[in-house]
Amino acid sequence: MHQPVSYMKAITKHRYGGPEVLQLEEVAKPAVKDHHLLVRVKANSANPADWHILRGAPFFARFSFGLFKPKDPNLGADFSGTVEEEGHGVTDFKVGDNVFGESLKGGAFAEYICVSAKVCGTMPESAEFATMAAVPIAGLTALQALITHGKLKEGESVLINGASGGVGHFAVQIAKAYGAQVTGVCSSRNRDFVKSLGADAVIAYDEENIHQHNHKYDLVLDTHGNLFLDDFKRMGQRGVVIGFTTMKHMVRLLISTLFSKFPLAQFTAQANTQDLETLADLIQSQKVKAHLEKIYPHQQIPEAIGYIEAMRTRGKVAMVWEDAEEVETLHEVVRNTN
Ligand SMILES: NC(=O)c1ccc[n+]([C@@H]2O[C@H](COP(=O)([O-])OP(=O)(O)OC[C@H]3O[C@@H](n4cnc5c(N)ncnc54)[C@H](OP(=O)(O)O)[C@@H]3O)[C@@H](O)[C@H]2O)c1
Repeated sequence: MHQPVSYMKAITKHRYGGPEVLQLEEVAKPAVKDHHLLVRVKANSANPADWHILRGAPFFARFSFGLFKPKDPNLGADFSGTVEEEGHGVTDFKVGDNVFGESLKGGAFAEYICVSAKVCGTMPESAEFATMAAVPIAGLTALQALITHGKLKEGESVLINGASGGVGHFAVQIAKAYGAQVTGVCSSRNRDFVKSLGADAVIAYDEENIHQHNHKYDLVLDTHGNLFLDDFKRMGQRGVVIGFTTMKHMVRLLISTLFSKFPLAQFTAQANTQDLETLADLIQSQKVKAHLEKIYPHQQIPEAIGYIEAMRTRGKVAMVWEDAEEVETLHEVVRNTN
């Protein structure tokens, strides 16, 4: 006998475009699958990947996401919430656990998500859902850029270009937690913020031209994506590229690295339980904090995506599946812990 379909609220898109094409819809609630968790979502955060997928940009991405219209109406990657059901074969999580994670298949901007247990981690006991939803993509990217690809060692020096955004603000704190000397590059309006994250030095890119900065670091991390191969060679022993400003810049950098022996890594962050739990430990031990610039109620997820598209976010923005009046209380809690 068929189970009756149950429904949930989700943020969906049926065509490519800006935040205005998003809507809050009733859709079928997913059923749990083997090796997956059904999570009751409590909070999300927004990442540049969300608006790239929403706009179908850059165009070549449409070969994966749908050429003329999105193949999948569901949006959203970062989430935190509570396990409502576990699928066959799940051993690391149980019903009632608070988890956080990343679904690159989308579907996180919804009341429920069915997600592989391999891309979830257990939340620290006292952590807020909004705070932990801010961690997955940006935190994993920062951790893997510094440690997995950048091979950062205690006592080394690292330059982080774009130190005040989602990835950058985690990278500054993680590098300090691993015992590095950190120099952050951000706008002058964010100088005090980046210092407060623990950076030993800050370069304001609107006061000093980074393309003429001459100091040498063991590692150069580019989250903003405007450094050229010559910049990496001049300032670093090795480098990691995280983001790109334009397609033209990306192509130019990729071509120039083909003819160079300079160790420059480029990667896409991979979610896994081990790295998520390393981040949870760093948060639990207060070595790393997710700074939430804004918290939106879930009805305003389109506004949240519109806000981060300017690429000037200080830390992260989170969205919560709470009633609007509870969001103000959460704002207070987060403000007091930031
Ligand atoms: N490779 C991967 O797996 C991966 C994963 C996640 C993200 N990404 C990419 O990484 C990039 C950053 O993501 P995010 O989430 O951190 O974005 P974000 O939160 O929007 O942060 C962007 C930061 O860039 C800074 N910035 C702007 N102009 C700058 C300049 N001229 N020089 C230096 N910094 C500048 C801004 O700081 P100010 O406001 O101080 O100017 C802002 O804080 C995006 O391109 C994203 O697509 C890649």
